[in-house]
Amino acid sequence: ELCKGINGLDKVVLREVRGSSAEVYLYGAHVTSWKNDHGDELLFVSSKAIFKPPKAIRGGIPICFPQFGSHGTLEQHGFARNRFWNIDTSPPPFPTNTTNRAFVDLILKPSDEDSKIWPHSYEFRLRVTLGPGGDLMLTSRIRNTGLDGKPFSFTFAYHTYFSVSDISEVRVEGLETLDYLDNLKARERFTEQGDSITFESEMDKVYVSTPTKIAILDHEKKRTFVLRKDGLPDAVVWNPWDKKAKSIPDLGDDDYKHMLCVEAACIEKSITLKPGEEWKGRQELSTVPSSYCSGQ
Ligand code: BG6
Repeated sequence: ELCKGINGLDKVVLREVRGSSAEVYLYGAHVTSWKNDHGDELLFVSSKAIFKPPKAIRGGIPICFPQFGSHGTLEQHGFARNRFWNIDTSPPPFPTNTTNRAFVDLILKPSDEDSKIWPHSYEFRLRVTLGPGGDLMLTSRIRNTGLDGKPFSFTFAYHTYFSVSDISEVRVEGLETLDYLDNLKARERFTEQGDSITFESEMDKVYVSTPTKIAILDHEKKRTFVLRKDGLPDAVVWNPWDKKAKSIPDLGDDDYKHMLCVEAACIEKSITLKPGEEWKGRQELSTVPSSYCSGQ
């Protein structure tokens, strides 16, 4: 269902029979809402979010492409998150199950302007799917259409902002003992200790070569988010904490308490596509009640 969202921007609303829903703005192909069948919002969107170009919407799931962060010469996190995407009416067959699922296909192709800043011939297709249990799946397919006969490289992230009740009570499991690059320390490489990750100050880490499953445990809400990923070896964990939050104009001063970014990503080793080649990267989000057991 295509309708008008904030500031008259086009958005697609996906609804699943049991009551869960999701919203995707064409601006940025940006998922801004994911609700379970009780109507609880599971994604964080800032109360100060600006739904208007040229900035990306603060919250939800921005798409970082063709550059994660400042790993290159483009604007921070690339331009896909602040471009107007189109609905893709004739996508090639996706390897995703669509039976009993609500989904939408979006596409981004280079505009003349974009070709000046990133001169590569590509097609980026995104399918957003809401599963029968309310699971939210994002599948990206990026193809080198080969018009110029040249390869290109990119980095990528699904920059998901999870809604949490109190960041101090949140734990992330699945990243213990892994190596990470610390963005707060000039991307120096460290190794995480054996405990699950908890939060008591600003964090901005890129965990490299992680398992495909990461759990975010919200003790207070008695809810666990499960993030599964494919084609995306890395995972970013970001919370700006109080000082940095105050410096972000579209984030409320206390918002950092209620958000956590855990981002399925491909950063340390960029992806290179030769003419005609395609890359796929998938992220699946689900929730389970709290007594979740890790390690399965
Ligand atoms: C995270 C980065 O992914 O995104 C952080 O690791 C960055 O360094 C954050 O501050 C937010 O970025 P932006 O451009 O949306 O403010």
